[in-house]
Amino acid sequence: MIKKGMIATLVSILMFALVGCGGSTEKTATTEKKITVVTDAAFAPFEYMDKGEIVGFDVDLLKAVMEEAGLEYELKNIGWDPLFAAIQGKTADMAVSGITINDDRKKTYDFSIPYFESTHMILVKEGSSIKSAKDLQGKVVGVQNGTTGQTAVEKILGKENPNIKKFENTVVAIMDLLNGGVEAVVTDNAVANEYVKNNPDAKIVAFEDPEHFESEFYGFMFPKGSELKQKVDEALKKVIENGTYTEIYKKWFGTEPNIESLQQQQ
Ligand code: ARG
Repeated sequence: MIKKGMIATLVSILMFALVGCGGSTEKTATTEKKITVVTDAAFAPFEYMDKGEIVGFDVDLLKAVMEEAGLEYELKNIGWDPLFAAIQGKTADMAVSGITINDDRKKTYDFSIPYFESTHMILVKEGSSIKSAKDLQGKVVGVQNGTTGQTAVEKILGKENPNIKKFENTVVAIMDLLNGGVEAVVTDNAVANEYVKNNPDAKIVAFEDPEHFESEFYGFMFPKGSELKQKVDEALKKVIENGTYTEIYKKWFGTEPNIESLQQQQ
């Protein structure tokens, strides 16, 4: 015959087991969850496809930061517009894609501390009459849709101007310049310089216009309220301080980074 006391003991043992179980599965779930990172790998030298692999400055930096943070991740090339949708819809945890931190985006997303300073450049064919941002007026100008390059051109040509041709990615925008579909492309300076360097026969030139194009900073992007931001920020800070960032920077740009100006933005 089972006594009342025994039943009580059994019940409490059972409850203890259940609670214990629940607790431990939760723990493994948070520590072992692979973080999904999304990108638009058509933006050399930050992220691009090479022999079926995503490579670039951002890719190396991401690896260093995630290693420092002790986080497992998977990087997926899903494209630019889908990347924003994925972060907003929280189907991805983080986006790394040369993404400029600005107030407009901050309304919808969270950003890491800045990791790269950028400005815009104008790409034109050699011998073009376009010599400054002002000269873009009345011309057909290509941009990657939804980028700060688009915003920069809109400031000069007007927001609804049909002469602004928006492309799904920067590679196709530059292809259209080669084919004569647009007379100029506005994109981030490092990307413009990389294109000119890698394609000496394309007869494309790139120039800046500091009067019209401001400096901006890239950050890793997260869903609003993401808990990942703090971990990533701490790791990114370390990677910048301990020289790993400098190594990666030198590998991709061949020059020393200006760490001080970067840290001033933190
Ligand atoms: N920095 C610019 C922006 O945030 C362009 C970034 C484009 N990045 C890319 N991987 N296509 O709007």
